[in-house]
Amino acid sequence: MPPFPPFPASRPRRLRRDEFSRAMVREHRLHPSDLILPVFILAGKNRTEAVASMPGVQRVTVDRLLPIAEQCLTLGVPCIALFPVIDASLKTEDGREALNPNGLVPTAVRELKKRFPELGVLTDVALDPFTSHGQDGLLDDTGYIVNDTTVDVLRQQALVQAEAGVDIVAPSDMMDGRIGAIRQALEGKGLVHTKIMAYSAKYASAFYGPFRDAVGSAKNLGKSNKKVYQMDPANSDEAIREVALDIAEGADMVMVKPGLPYLDIVRRVKDEFRVPTFAYQVSGEYAMVKAAAANGWLDHDLVMMESLLAFKRAGADGILSYFALDAARLIG
Ligand code: PBG
Repeated sequence: MPPFPPFPASRPRRLRRDEFSRAMVREHRLHPSDLILPVFILAGKNRTEAVASMPGVQRVTVDRLLPIAEQCLTLGVPCIALFPVIDASLKTEDGREALNPNGLVPTAVRELKKRFPELGVLTDVALDPFTSHGQDGLLDDTGYIVNDTTVDVLRQQALVQAEAGVDIVAPSDMMDGRIGAIRQALEGKGLVHTKIMAYSAKYASAFYGPFRDAVGSAKNLGKSNKKVYQMDPANSDEAIREVALDIAEGADMVMVKPGLPYLDIVRRVKDEFRVPTFAYQVSGEYAMVKAAAANGWLDHDLVMMESLLAFKRAGADGILSYFALDAARLIG
C-alpha cells in the first residue's frame, strides 16, 4: 500500500466545476419575497430629498411614495417599512406628535392601503423621530429614559398606527414589556389581525448613524447614546432572553439588528426558537457598501447580493434592506 492514495479521497470541487451542478447543490437562495424596503417619508407634496450619507436613498412625500410602493409590488417585494421625517417644529419633549391620528405615518398608511391593499405596510413604534431630544422614550429629571410611562405612550402610538390600517407594527424602542402592552391593547380594540414584528435584539450600535441623519434625529441626540435601553454589542445570551420575552408577550415575528455584524445572533435565535426571524441590514451597512463601491474598491452588485444571501444562510426568514428594490431587480 502506498502511504497516500493516488488521488484525493474526496473532490468537493467536482460539484463546483459547472454552473448547472453549482445550481443543483445550492443550499440557499434569495427571493424578492425575502425583502422588506425601508423608506423615509416627508410631509407635504411633490418633494424628494437626498440623504447625503445614504447615496441612492431619498426622503419622499406620500404622493411620491406611491410609485415606490408600486415598484415593490411589481418586483415581488411584499412589504414596505415607513420611517417618518418629522418637521422640527413638531418635535417635543414628550413626542406627542407620534399620537396624532392625522400625522404623517397614519396618513401614509391610509394612502398606501387604499391604493395598494395587497402590499404589506410596516410601521416603527418608537418616539425618536418625534422627540426634541432624539431618544426613543420619555426622560425623567436626570435624563434617564423611563420605562413604564414610555410603554404607555408606545401602546397608544401602536394603536394609532393599527387604527390607520397598518399590517405590522414594529416596536424598535427596546423598552421592557412593550410587546405585551401593545398586544393587549390591540386585542382590546378587536385589532386581532395586526401583526407585531418585535425589534427584539436591537443593539446600541454605531451603524445607525446614517439613519439618524435621514430622520433628522442625529442633531437632537447630539453626543448622547441609547445604551440604557438598546443592547450591549458584547452580549449574545441576553439576545436569547429578549427574544423569549417578546415571543411570550405576543410577538408574531422577531428581529435582530444590525445585520451582518450580528449574524451569529440571527443563527442562535433561529436555532433556539424556530419562529419567523428577520434581520435589519441597517443604514451604516448600506453606507459602507455604497462608499466602497463609489471608490471602485468593491463591486456594488456582487457585494450587495452576497451580503443579502448571507442573511439567508444565517437563518433569517427575511431582511429589511435599503437594497431591497435593487436586489429584487437583479434577481429578476
Ligand atoms: C428608531 C430606529 C432606528 C433604526 C430603526 N428604527 C435608529 C435608532 O435606534 O437610533 C435604525 C435603522 C438603520 O440604521 O437603518 N428607533
